[in-house]
Amino acid sequence: MEKMPYQAHADVDALVSTRPLTDASRQSNDWRTGLPELTGSLVTLRELQASDATSLFIALATAEVSRFISPPPTTVEGFGRFIAWTHRQRAAGQYVCFAIVPRGSDVAVGLFQVRSLEPDFGTAEWGFALASELWGTGMFADGARLTIEFTFDVIGSYRLEARAAIKNGRGSGALQKIGAVREGVLRKSLLRNGEFLDQCVWTILAEEWRDGAAAWGDQMIH
Ligand SMILES: CC(C)(COP(=O)(O)OP(=O)(O)OC[C@H]1O[C@@H](n2cnc3c(N)ncnc32)[C@H](O)[C@@H]1OP(=O)(O)O)[C@@H](O)C(=O)NCCC(=O)NCCS
Repeated sequence: MEKMPYQAHADVDALVSTRPLTDASRQSNDWRTGLPELTGSLVTLRELQASDATSLFIALATAEVSRFISPPPTTVEGFGRFIAWTHRQRAAGQYVCFAIVPRGSDVAVGLFQVRSLEPDFGTAEWGFALASELWGTGMFADGARLTIEFTFDVIGSYRLEARAAIKNGRGSGALQKIGAVREGVLRKSLLRNGEFLDQCVWTILAEEWRDGAAAWGDQMIH
């Protein structure tokens, strides 16, 4: 498997076919040939396009956004190569990457990435980043719900993991807010700016999500 260029696998047909299909999955269970557009109340998630390289560079290649995550590309051309890589990985059934696009716009301002941690995508890992001007707007939570439902209902994963540096208060707060459970500490698991950072694993289980146990409260739309 090619290495993910930065943070943010699969014969999933059998898994998908054993699960109740949502409208989204009926439209898109062949996600390896192309991602569907997912519409929330504040954002749309869609496949990355080559033309997103500039806006993603502006949104994500800042010190503030990249402080606690694996370093994003440092040039527009680097983002272009990253976008091409996401398409190859999706076609191989290893990974999906959605652009976050505010409703009413077509400008990509962030990403949700999901990769398989095992051959059948049973366990998946996700990562996300959003332009700092849009932090605290609710766009993260809106896009997170769409990504989680896609991962459980369409890809067919049963467990979704995220890693967040303990020093990343905002990333950890975002995960806690959407109902992820903090499971454990990965000591010195991320080297960033010459410092080894401890990270926590935060998880969401499909069964808990479907039971509404994830703490979405009134925001939960099923
Ligand atoms: C992670 C990210 C996408 C979340 O989006 P966001 O818009 O900032 O998230 P939200 O504001 O909806 O949620 C963050 C929550 O953490 C809380 N928070 C902020 N700083 C915090 C801190 N130091 N400690 C604990 N919680 C904190 C916020 O108050 C908010 O909770 P609230 O809405 O209940 O007030 C965005 O911050 C980002 O792109 N960060 C940079 C990349 C990154 O770190 N990715 C995550 C890797 S795990």
